[in-house]
Amino acid sequence: MTKINERVCPVALSGSLDNSIRRWLQNPKKILSPYIKEGMTVLDVGCGPGFFSIEMA
Ligand SMILES: C[S@@+](CC[C@H](N)C(=O)[O-])C[C@H]1O[C@@H](n2cnc3c(N)ncnc32)[C@H](O)[C@@H]1O
Repeated sequence: MTKINERVCPVALSGSLDNSIRRWLQNPKKILSPYIKEGMTVLDVGCGPGFFSIEMA
């Protein structure tokens, strides 16, 4: 059985989720802007290093 701590991604690997290549391929502003408008309350479940959360804010 896997322990929960063994499934946490270490901060040292956060660059694999938040980097300029991904930002170019998956532009968070372009992806989110049709859905999120100013004044909304948004919850980023499974935010990881915040690739989408920062744009949401
Ligand atoms: C593939 S990463 C994506 C992170 C981020 N949303 C992004 O696009 O860069 C999936 C994230 O979901 C989180 N996660 C997985 N299962 C979860 C759960 N049951 N509740 C909350 N977060 C969860 C993981 O810890 C991880 O940070």
